[in-house]
Amino acid sequence: MAAFRPDLLLEQLGLLIEQPGSLSQDDPQRAELLRLTRLASTALETPLEVTQRIIFSPLPLLTTRLSQEFNIFSTLAQHSVTHPVGLSELAKASGLEPSILSAVMDYNCGQSAALEAKPGHYAPTKLTHMMLQPMFNDATIVFYDCVLPTFAALCRVLKDTGKDRLTAFQAGHNTSEEDIYSWLESHPVQQGAFYRFMKTVFAGLPTWLDVVRFDEEIGANSSSNEVLFVDVGGGFGWQCQALRKAYPHLPGKIILQDRADVIKKGQAAEEAAPNKQLGVEPVVYDFFTEQTVKGARAYFLRGILHNWDDEKCIQILKCQASAMATAGKSTMIIEDFVLGEREPGADYAAAFGIAMQAVHNARERSREDFERLLGLAGLELVEVRAFTKFGNSAILARKQG
Ligand SMILES: C[S@@+](CC[C@H](N)C(=O)[O-])C[C@H]1O[C@@H](n2cnc3c(N)ncnc32)[C@H](O)[C@@H]1O
Repeated sequence: MAAFRPDLLLEQLGLLIEQPGSLSQDDPQRAELLRLTRLASTALETPLEVTQRIIFSPLPLLTTRLSQEFNIFSTLAQHSVTHPVGLSELAKASGLEPSILSAVMDYNCGQSAALEAKPGHYAPTKLTHMMLQPMFNDATIVFYDCVLPTFAALCRVLKDTGKDRLTAFQAGHNTSEEDIYSWLESHPVQQGAFYRFMKTVFAGLPTWLDVVRFDEEIGANSSSNEVLFVDVGGGFGWQCQALRKAYPHLPGKIILQDRADVIKKGQAAEEAAPNKQLGVEPVVYDFFTEQTVKGARAYFLRGILHNWDDEKCIQILKCQASAMATAGKSTMIIEDFVLGEREPGADYAAAFGIAMQAVHNARERSREDFERLLGLAGLELVEVRAFTKFGNSAILARKQG
């Protein structure tokens, strides 16, 4: 075995930190380096360091949320290494007591989310600016405000073996009646963040449109008075917009369906304004009732089934199947993770699986699971097309017979 040379590694890692852009996002060496540096970091940890890492694991989320909510990042962003902001000025801007603020800033500096340019004076870093972007702001709100109390309740909920047990979301949010979607209706900040987050949750990755040639496989010879695409539970309509932009000249209607409150808020939301320009028609629809749009070319369900248990999924699928045309004229496209389709080490689906259990008492599924659920709803699975290394997949299904 070759001798380990920490001096060489230290020198190379120092250079990497000075030149982080030297490996592009798609460079396979970047992914391998990330994997190895993470493994190396775990291999080097002492038991105390492992303990610290694990017991304080919610802190990066907490300090990010505090720094966004109390204007810490936005104040830092107005300064620089040569003109850093002092703790007392930051206390004024944030309204936080200097004692907690100073601890948060120490932690932020340890996370590279701020830089202590001179004692008690702080400057922004690349991460500070990143955390101010709407995408990160929304993700932090969703995970800190909605999901963190849910995770905190999961252990106690799983110990409850009663048949009427609450979801961890309900236990964590002290509600026995509401699921997350009804809870969001009375929490507008979190609701806006959640529906915007649905657009960016897989930002930068390939999408279902990269593996479904919609114009040829589904929309061939369509006419303007038929329905091309129904986005069932489509939120603010991001996928309707993406489809129209991908195929601007493909004739046919694009319909966005969701709960009444989401359709109403979506129509008022600035981010959903392109729906109108792109001719996306918003319609209120509860997917536990019979699908009202009949014989569309495609019924699309993205991130829907992993929110529900098997019984509810079959109900949702049956409600769509009854509207689908026979002889393959209607296709159902389900976008979800498909377990077994991910590459080794890509554990995004595993993290989502735990989140789905906690928030909805539901789970991610395998190809066999989808095949069985579809079969019980009178549909047949035609093909699974994975389009990311995490196992994000488009599942194509048609009516049986
Ligand atoms: C995880 S989100 C996915 C949103 C969208 N498909 C996307 O991928 O961006 C689940 C969606 O289901 C909607 N939803 C929940 N219950 C519903 C119901 N009973 N009928 C219709 N939509 C519902 C939510 O409002 C939300 O938009």
